Amino acid sequence: MGSKLIAPSLLAADFANLQRDIEMVNQSNADWFHIDVMDGVFVPNISYGMPVLQAITKHTKKTVDVHLMIVEPDKYISTFKKLGANNLTVHYEACPHLHRTLQAIKAEGMKAGVALNPHTNISLLEDIINDIDLVLIMSVNPGFGGQSFIENTYNKIKALRELIIRKGAKTLIEIDGGVSAANAKMLVDTGADILVAGSFVFKSEHPLETIKELKTITNS
Ligand code: DX5
Ligand code: ZN
Repeated sequence: MGSKLIAPSLLAADFANLQRDIEMVNQSNADWFHIDVMDGVFVPNISYGMPVLQAITKHTKKTVDVHLMIVEPDKYISTFKKLGANNLTVHYEACPHLHRTLQAIKAEGMKAGVALNPHTNISLLEDIINDIDLVLIMSVNPGFGGQSFIENTYNKIKALRELIIRKGAKTLIEIDGGVSAANAKMLVDTGADILVAGSFVFKSEHPLETIKELKTITNS
């Protein structure tokens, strides 16, 4: 399945020291930089918006992996491209015309991702999986960092891996929420390609070492 990727989530960074935390990620062996955008409507929280994102992407040397937890994401696809996003992930639950949305993301030259809330069944992707570059399985309810991992995620990874194989798709599987050294190995062994980690990285004593630890665990 190739090498497994680690994506630290900025949501758990120290916002008063953003540049320092971005530099830490630049120097680490993380692969992607995960950026959560929340609108207070799709999820009961507001994170940061366009000006902050622009400031971040100016400094980061990693692939910019943007996770939109917003309603009507179609309105902002070209804006996020201009702001420096490499991957743009929208929520299945926020997109009544998902096929159209994914084509619009790809037309801007970004990788197109689809995120699923914990209750959203993998089988709903049956007719769209070949159009998706990455599926982000939410392993907590979206909106907040630091929540506990939902165990049913393993069943969803298995079902998604099976669907990808059956359809001959090239889709990557990304897991977001409650990821730590305790479940990282099991997640990749079950079929995950990319692990997002917020609190586990940024609230640890030595974030650089923690990223290295996750990278080692998932690629051994
Ligand atoms: C939650 C976000 C996550 C969050 C994960 O809605 O999508 O990316 O930052 O945080 P942890 O790793 O602390 O669960
Ligand atoms: Zn996220």
